[in-house]
Amino acid sequence: MNKKVIIAPSILACDMARLGDEMKRATESGADMLHADVMDGVYVPNISFGFDFISAVHRSSDLPIDVHMMTVCPGKYIKELKEAGAASVTVHHDIGGTEEVIKILKDIRDAGMRSAVALRPKFPAEDVVPFLPYVDMILVMTVEPGFGGQSFMEDMLPKIRRIREMAPAVPIQVDGGIKAATAKSCAAAGADVFVVGTASFKAPDMKSAIEEIRESAR
Ligand code: DX5
Ligand code: ZN
Repeated sequence: MNKKVIIAPSILACDMARLGDEMKRATESGADMLHADVMDGVYVPNISFGFDFISAVHRSSDLPIDVHMMTVCPGKYIKELKEAGAASVTVHHDIGGTEEVIKILKDIRDAGMRSAVALRPKFPAEDVVPFLPYVDMILVMTVEPGFGGQSFMEDMLPKIRRIREMAPAVPIQVDGGIKAATAKSCAAAGADVFVVGTASFKAPDMKSAIEEIRESAR
């Protein structure tokens, strides 16, 4: 099978003291997109970076920036995200009621960005159903959100398979513990967008790491 595979290195794993060079390295290594994890210390127990940082990433690279909002009020910051250069914005589905989340997804699209909804590991595939008309991508978390470098949760594979059945045309993104072997299982289950932190920026050779992951996911 030769299908379209999107590889998105997660900026959280780069050497932030050399941000510009690291974004260049990701670009030259064949990344399709850059994944930016915004954490507020409330929705998840960690704090990462904000809009000025995303804007610095945007000024360092021409790649689309995919922002993963691990925050309790992502809807407050649509304008800031757009101005910082986000191409797509993902929000977690449990940050509010269904109507509230739908409104945020619509606002993201109205601002000219692509929208996505994310499911933490404990939530079932069926939870995405009300959001399907409003999303350009679904993110299945394959670790508990909050930190890079965690181990992939094998028990997320049936969820990916189920979402693929329910939404055959929507890209499915996986995030957490993705490397060649886990990308292969996720791809077989129906995933097509792969967030890779540790296994890309921290690999001995980022380019061959990305190539290997892409090949395994094909
Ligand atoms: C975790 C983040 C991930 C993280 C992935 O909450 O959403 O994007 O950076 O890192 P790895 O690939 O190291 O698991
Ligand atoms: Zn992420």
